[in-house]
Amino acid sequence: MSNVKFMSGENIPLEMHKVRMVQKVNLLPVEDRLKAIEDAGFNTFLLQNRDVFMDMLTDSGVNAMSQNQYAAMMRADDSYAGSETYYRLEAVLQDVFGMKYFLPAHQGRACENIIAQTLVKPGQVTIMNYHFTTTKAHITLNGGKVEEILTDEGFKIKSDKPFKGDIDLDKLHESIKRNGKDNIAFVRIEAGTNLIGGQPVSMENMRQVSKICRDEGIKLVYDASLLGDNLYFIKVRDEAYKNVDIIEITREIASLMDVVYFSARKLGSARGGGILCDDEALFLKMRELVPLYEGFLTYGGMSVREMEALAVGLQETMDFDVINQTPIIVEALCNELLKNGVPVVTPPGGLGCHVDAMEFCSHVPQNLYPAGALAASIFIASGVRCMERGTMSEQRNEDGSEPLAEMELARIAVPRRVFTLSQVKYTADRINWLYQNRELIGGLKFVEEPKMLRFFFGRLEPIGDWPSLLAAKFREDFGDSL
Ligand code: F0G
Repeated sequence: MSNVKFMSGENIPLEMHKVRMVQKVNLLPVEDRLKAIEDAGFNTFLLQNRDVFMDMLTDSGVNAMSQNQYAAMMRADDSYAGSETYYRLEAVLQDVFGMKYFLPAHQGRACENIIAQTLVKPGQVTIMNYHFTTTKAHITLNGGKVEEILTDEGFKIKSDKPFKGDIDLDKLHESIKRNGKDNIAFVRIEAGTNLIGGQPVSMENMRQVSKICRDEGIKLVYDASLLGDNLYFIKVRDEAYKNVDIIEITREIASLMDVVYFSARKLGSARGGGILCDDEALFLKMRELVPLYEGFLTYGGMSVREMEALAVGLQETMDFDVINQTPIIVEALCNELLKNGVPVVTPPGGLGCHVDAMEFCSHVPQNLYPAGALAASIFIASGVRCMERGTMSEQRNEDGSEPLAEMELARIAVPRRVFTLSQVKYTADRINWLYQNRELIGGLKFVEEPKMLRFFFGRLEPIGDWPSLLAAKFREDFGDSL
């Protein structure tokens, strides 16, 4: 779709698919949206989908599947052990990644549990470009620590660096020296680095990190959950890969890694997860945990229908016209917002558009969760459900103190091939309105705060009655419009 030029000169994302099955969505009046977010404790995770117009919370498990994925689901071989479906999926994975062994798991964090239990010893450090919430939770649960060695550029909201997810090689050398290689459980590279705005990692960086790890005898683990987006960016932002097939880029990445794991709720647009490796001893060690936590080895907690859909979805991920859909829509959404001065992470990444709440709500102190307040406000203004990715998503330190996040982002995810351009334009319109009224947004405080992964179930309340004032201003400005 990127190759289609419009005579008008406008850069319009053109969908390379057609919609053949639809789901009706409701847009509630602003007063009802206000009531819904109050009932949800100002936490967008606790909203009921019936109250949501566009669900842009995540791209996880909510991507549109193709007709071939649905068709494949019908031929699933439903047996506990030795399912034909498993062998079909295994063969596709071996072909796509060029790796020998595959272990199924019910989703990405289940892979993280198995990897952390196998590789992390208490007191050890895991070094990574940047953490993901569930990754860090599993590493710390096993007594490990996380050290992030992203390049400084990766933390900048505004940048023109094409690969902001890259690891800083000097920091990697320094960390190995300081910790000693025996105290390092593994190095982890996250594709399409989620929490810094879906930012990709370059092939050159992966090559260098792999060389350092191999020289030192440290295992390199690749979180491929957002591989589809990362592949797109390697293809369009790295001149050397312009003419290389997606599957060749995938195999080259895998050849640099010791372990590859993924959430199939993202990669392959199905639901499930898996781990790949070439080392037999490591495979056998991890394998012991699969029947304990996931299920028998030939399904690992996944439904066989999802496994069939995943096998097809992975093959379709090797098609440029499939993986380019989300990044191009993300870019269009970011550009609509940038035109109106709304601060967003640049260059646009994969996964979604990330609004910088630190600047958007610069009057809200970080300990009053500006990104959480912005996510709640976006829902009030639009019925669009997005996600806080900032201090609320951090876990407290052991002494109970609260680490402030490096970035305060409201993430507006773009599930693959789900929303149309007019819906995306509506989202931008409402956020642009909100930006003009940003002074009305206030802070939040926890009234119920779970110890682990508090952002999932925690309930908050506003400091003052700013949400009602925001809804009243919306009504004043938009009259009887929804
Ligand atoms: N790794 C990354 C980079 C992820 O983005 C996720 C999930 C996981 C691992 C865990 O996978 O959900 O299948 O257990 N990210 C989702 C999100 C939840 O909304 O960004 P999972």
